[in-house]
Amino acid sequence: MELASILERLDLAQLFPSAQPLEVELGCGDASFLVEYARRHPERNFLGVERLLGRLRKLDRQGRRAGLVNLRGVRIESAYFLEYLLPRHSAEALHVYFPDPWPKKKHRKHRLVGERFPELARAALAPGGVVYLRTDEADYFAQMTVVFDASPHFEPVETPAELAGLTTDFERDFQARGVPTLRAARRLVAPAGVAASASFTSSK
Ligand SMILES: C[S@@+](CC[C@H](N)C(=O)[O-])C[C@H]1O[C@@H](n2cnc3c(N)ncnc32)[C@H](O)[C@@H]1O
Repeated sequence: MELASILERLDLAQLFPSAQPLEVELGCGDASFLVEYARRHPERNFLGVERLLGRLRKLDRQGRRAGLVNLRGVRIESAYFLEYLLPRHSAEALHVYFPDPWPKKKHRKHRLVGERFPELARAALAPGGVVYLRTDEADYFAQMTVVFDASPHFEPVETPAELAGLTTDFERDFQARGVPTLRAARRLVAPAGVAASASFTSSK
């Protein structure tokens, strides 16, 4: 989709025909995971965030071919998207699967799931929302664990079986090559008195 502005938050009610719970994949690659997930769940809306145009075009092609009206893609940098474009507390789930690993020590500052990420996720998630994480990099997984353990706002939860069984493009490649992968999920702990809900919001 074309963004009217990258300075104002998205108007979700304009993006999707139905007001329903929103899930976001950051760095969605060829979007094969998101297309399949959106196909299985017409009662939810899905947004794929990806910086490479060619990959986003795949999302668009596959989504149109499958007739999905609950899937949209945005070509932009993930942290910027979370901080400035996604309406606050609008996502029921953030999916972060095989983010670029930046394995060299001096490059680790470029990793998406760094010290700031839990706060970005907290602002993006609806009460009770969940961050789902997968990686093949043990060192990155350790970093993910450390940054979320340092936040009092998240608690570890299990990944639902249906979601765990849905693999991504990179994951299938790792599996085919016998490379082990790691996964975790962290749920936003709702402040006392605020019940977790599956409500959709387009508030800014
Ligand atoms: C290793 S691939 C994984 C793709 C997909 N999640 C999967 O598991 O098959 C990482 C993807 O994230 C995208 N990406 C990396 N850093 C990004 C960023 N800061 N913002 C948006 N996309 C990013 C890359 O272009 C690439 O498509």
